[in-house]
Parts: sequence; C-alpha cells; structure tokens
Amino acid sequence: MDAINWSNLSFGYMKTDYNIRSYFKDGKWGEPQSETSEFLNLHMAATCLHYGQEVFEGLKAFRGKDGKIRIFRMRENALRLQSSCRGIMMAELPVELFEEMVALAVRKNSRFVPPYESGASLYIRPLLIGTSAQVGVKPATEYTFIIFVTPVGPYFKEGFKPTPMVILREYDRAAPLGTGTFKVGGNYAASLVAGEKAHELGYSAVLYLDAKEKKYIDECGPANFFGIKDNTYITPKSTSILPSITNKSLMQLAEDMGLKVERRPVLEDELATFEEAGACGTAAVISPILRIDDISENKSYHFCKDGNAGPISEKLYRKLRAIQYGDEPDKYGWVTVLD
Ligand code: PLP
Ligand code: COI
Repeated sequence: MDAINWSNLSFGYMKTDYNIRSYFKDGKWGEPQSETSEFLNLHMAATCLHYGQEVFEGLKAFRGKDGKIRIFRMRENALRLQSSCRGIMMAELPVELFEEMVALAVRKNSRFVPPYESGASLYIRPLLIGTSAQVGVKPATEYTFIIFVTPVGPYFKEGFKPTPMVILREYDRAAPLGTGTFKVGGNYAASLVAGEKAHELGYSAVLYLDAKEKKYIDECGPANFFGIKDNTYITPKSTSILPSITNKSLMQLAEDMGLKVERRPVLEDELATFEEAGACGTAAVISPILRIDDISENKSYHFCKDGNAGPISEKLYRKLRAIQYGDEPDKYGWVTVLD
C-alpha cells in the first residue's frame, strides 16, 4: 500500500483490510465473520432501503506512546446501539458480541491505527440494517451487522480552531417525540439540506433549536452542544438529541475539575451569557464555537473573542485526549487496551 500521510488525514473513507459481519436469522445472531469485500449483496426489497431500518454507531481507537491500541468506551456504544434498535424495531445485538466484533475489527486492521505522534485515530463504524424483503411497512425478520474501520483526522478541518455555526430556523432535524435520541440514518438524511446550506454560507455546522417552540438549544449537526459560564458546564436536556458519549465523558471531567455541571433546557437567549461554547462528539472531539448567527432573527452571539478556544474548553479537550491516548490514568475504566 502507498504510505499514509497520517498527520494529514481528513475525516473520510479509506479502504482497510477487513470488515467484520454477523447475520441475524431465525431469531439469532451468527458467529462473527471477517470479510475483505467492501460490498454487500442486498435484496432489493430490504427494509433498510425502503423504510429506513438502519442504525449505526461511531467510536474510535487510539495508539498510545507505548504503541498499544486503546478503544474508548465501546460498551456505551453497544448500549446506545441497542437503544437505537428498540427505537426502530430492529433485532438488538448483544453487548458482548458488539465488543468482540469491535476488538476483532481493530486487531485485524491494526496497521491502520495511526501512530501516536500524528494525533489521528482509527474511526470505527458499526452499522446494522434490516435485510429481509418486505413491501408492507413492517420490521424485517433478518438483519446484518457490519463493522468497518478507517483512519481519520479532524471532522471539522479547522481541528481545535473555533469555527462559526448557524441557526437556520426553516429546518428541523428531529421531532420532539421522534427519533432524535436514536442514531438512525434518517436523522442524518433530514439534516443534509440544512447542513449543505450552512456550508455554502461559510459555517461549519447548523445549531438546531427545539422543533416545537424554537426557543431552546438542541444540538450542533453531528455533535452535542455545551456552554461554559461562571465555572459551570451547561448542556441541553432535550427529547430530540442524541445522548453523546463524549458529552457524558466531558460532564464527568468537568466535575473532576471542580466545575458545576448542569444538564437542562437551555434557552437560545442564554447564549449571550456564555463565556465559551463548543460542539462535542466522537468525530468532532471538542470543536470550539467562534460565533453563532441566528440569521433570520438578525442576532449573533460571540465567543472566543481573541479567535482562540477558551481556557476551560481547552483544558477539557486536553484531558479527554490524554485519557484516550493513554497519557493519563484511566480512572473510570473507559478504555479497553488491546494486547
Ligand atoms: N449528536 C449527533 C447527532 C451525532 O451524530 C453525534 C455523533 O455520534 C453526537 C451527537 C456525539 O455523540 P458521541 O459523543 O457519542 O459520538
Ligand atoms: C460520530 O461522531 O461518531 C458521528 O457519528 C458523527 C458523524 C460522522 C455522523
């Protein structure tokens, strides 16, 4: 293979050696299988194609200074995948099988885990789809679970540099009692038009408001939102956002640093009082927010007045990365080290 320029990776797809699959049939999951093909042989009436029976996950593996590979909080992803499955009537994958297959996918592609110095990581993408043929709107009886991996750099090309985000009031991502709390493909389809519009206007992402009242902050495209003020870490509580594992980790780290942590409805107006704001997620890590424009209301909220990330966001970012790369002790048992 051509040498990979590890320090220059974007958040994109690169072919790796193996993907791992398990098939659900006759009410049970089969043994994990290694595949080299990047393609699937699918029935044209599969429920994933017509009725969106598709859930996925995203997690990362990191290579430490000691050369060892560490996978971050995979049990949490296994549990969230099960929750997503319940959300759209799909067969749930056992947690142990998920963990076994993630570890196998990483081990079999270990040459693609970027070196410590690059600051890059291996993105792990588990995907579960309904595969049996159905024309009526009904759940499938057969499913395929696949994990592929790909080495990645930062999701937002600016990395840890603050970027502007935008409120586009004419679009919603998820309904208040809809599928926003599940990681289903349909939520991302629903976000594409707004996301592309934001990019055309020079913003890195859309900051969604709650769909019902358009008063509260929901989340930032593919990441949760947090704000910092008065030594407090504040993040929205909402029935239409994904429960982010990064956010959950940051809430713990913020508390350890002596910050107060509040998870509650956050009014848009409160943005004006935040000293720092950021987007957080597996892909985004922490992406500091420079400015939020609420275009149709002609309002702007400014953070990072000198163009740099605020001190608390930076401290949280460093702490999280240090745990992920194994530079600091894994006090909470978040990391699985592969031998
Ligand atoms: N919100 C959405 C809509 C996402 O797609 C993601 C990414 O997974 C997140 C939040 C962040 O979640 P996590 O930190 O578990 O990656
Ligand atoms: C992640 O952070 O893992 C995501 O899934 C975000 C995006 C790439 C969909």
